[in-house]
Amino acid sequence: MLVKICKALILTLAVISSIANAKESRIGPRLQPGVPRIIDGVAVTGQWDGRWACSMQDKWYGDYHMCGCNIIDNRTVLTAGHCAPQGWPEDIELYCGEKILSEATLTSKVTNIIRHKGYSSETLNNDVALLKLQTALKFDENTNMKPVVLPENPDVCGDGELCYVYGWGVTSEGGFSAAPNLMKTDVKIVSDSECQASYAAAGIIVNPECMICAANPGKDSCQGDSGGPLICRTNVLCGTVSWGIGCARPEYPGVYAEVANFLDWIKICDGDKCMVPTGCETCC
Ligand SMILES: *[C@@H]1O[C@H](CO)[C@@H](O)[C@H](O)[C@H]1NC(C)=O
Repeated sequence: MLVKICKALILTLAVISSIANAKESRIGPRLQPGVPRIIDGVAVTGQWDGRWACSMQDKWYGDYHMCGCNIIDNRTVLTAGHCAPQGWPEDIELYCGEKILSEATLTSKVTNIIRHKGYSSETLNNDVALLKLQTALKFDENTNMKPVVLPENPDVCGDGELCYVYGWGVTSEGGFSAAPNLMKTDVKIVSDSECQASYAAAGIIVNPECMICAANPGKDSCQGDSGGPLICRTNVLCGTVSWGIGCARPEYPGVYAEVANFLDWIKICDGDKCMVPTGCETCC
């Protein structure tokens, strides 16, 4: 019981410290089923669309959608660092291959949580974590799952690129319940300098080595979408939902962990072992 109380405290403190810094991580509040998500999105219905998206839930808090994550390979998903509490991997459950959460059955439990060593809850630098799965995923016609494509070619994630962000998160700023259906909305990649300038006005630092920004008037990711995919062109994972000030406010783009800058880290963490390479303690 005591460890569980500590767990609640740790999670609460992580959220408070990011708010103190005015960066609002887009982790799910205690989401309730019933309402749609993503700001100004549409439900994902195509059979082949969104097949790399999973819902991450923490059994200890009940069956609540907490964060999104992305299938990397049959034993690995990528989520946000701020979604990955340290310890208690046995409490984390993943639901993959089903867009309607109420119809999803448990896909796998988690055996190991590997949060980036350079993750900071204050700056939200290196906001990435890998979860290792207990049950290997199968990628065939029956499972509705497949891995994302990693951005080996950084041009795919270039300024102005039209991309889609996916999630079961809230559909309005301050909203409080999870979308029953996976939602998506279109956003465009914003240049590092433009994004830095937008947040500099609020005294907040955007680190271009770790972060990539995307925006579109009236459209955005929001709370509950954390860790989920920013997909460009054909299934390329350019970002994972990280933070913003509010959601879809015209002056503030959504900020994502920049997957292209973590490719070496993801590869080194391939398999069950994860060694942190020298120089990877801060942004990769
Ligand atoms: C998982 O992927 C690995 C590497 O691609 C492969 O060797 C293995 O057979 C796969 N496991 C299952 C259960 O599909």
